[in-house]
Amino acid sequence: MKVKKGFIVLIAVFFVFAISFVYAQPKDVYKLHWEGAKFPPTEFNHKNHAEKYKIDCKHCHHTDPNPAEKVTQCITCHDPSGDVAATKGGGIKGMDAYHKQCIDCHKKENESGKNAPTKCNDCHKKA
Ligand code: HEC
Ligand code: HEC
Ligand code: HEC
Ligand code: HEC
Repeated sequence: MKVKKGFIVLIAVFFVFAISFVYAQPKDVYKLHWEGAKFPPTEFNHKNHAEKYKIDCKHCHHTDPNPAEKVTQCITCHDPSGDVAATKGGGIKGMDAYHKQCIDCHKKENESGKNAPTKCNDCHKKA
């Protein structure tokens, strides 16, 4: 009996490991910033946006068929320099992609009484 229990635990541990390996987990909080950026990094609370504000994963990860399994980082397609190499679909450059997605939604939310950041220094906070 003892041997069997140990075996089951081993299988369970393996499965937990396998799942966390297949599904890349987002960090709770990102400091969005790319090399050479002039403005201070933007603190982006991924956990709040996904869980507290209940925004659909695909609203942001708009090209990923199943974000719970795999996401492609924004700047893979939305090149910071504006040279959109990875997409031929007319992707906009990095800064515009973030600004449009983040600020457009915040403005809309604020019209219905929310208090999401829309000013430069609210996002690009000096440390
Ligand atoms: C809702 C949050 C938000 C607001 C408001 C915002 N930004 Fe940004 N901005 C970002 C994010 C996220 C990035 C991409 C990551 C990074 O900072 O490098 C970015 C990138 C940039 C970049 C390119 C990277 C760099 O630092 O050189 C510039 C320039 C910039 N923002 C300037 C501004 C200015 C000026 C304003 C106000 C008119 C502004 N931002 C308002 C979130 C914001
Ligand atoms: C408000 C926008 C937004 C929402 C909603 C959102 N994400 Fe993200 N997610 C991001 C940003 C921005 C990053 C940082 C990486 C980047 O810049 O591409 C990220 C990163 C990730 C990463 C890590 C990618 C890596 O390579 O480091 C995973 C995995 C992920 N998100 C999955 C999800 C899932 C699953 C959901 C829904 C439960 C979700 N996201 C909801 C914007 C969002
Ligand atoms: C696999 C490549 C790819 C990835 C990854 C990607 N995008 Fe895009 N994005 C595109 C292309 C291509 C377009 C233009 C066609 C379209 O609107 O779908 C676009 C359009 C956009 C637009 C403009 C939509 C409009 O109304 O004009 C925004 C904003 C945007 N992306 C933000 C983001 C953000 C933020 C991320 C990361 C969370 C991201 N994208 C990830 C390829 C990508
Ligand atoms: C589809 C809507 C939506 C998108 C897209 C979105 N946000 Fe937000 N954001 C919200 C809402 C809702 C709040 C909460 C406002 C409140 O509490 O009054 C918020 C709050 C915030 C806050 C302050 C509170 C906190 O939880 O940290 C920051 C900073 C922020 N967002 C950054 C960003 C950045 C950076 C992006 C783009 C990568 C982004 N947001 C994209 C809806 C959005």
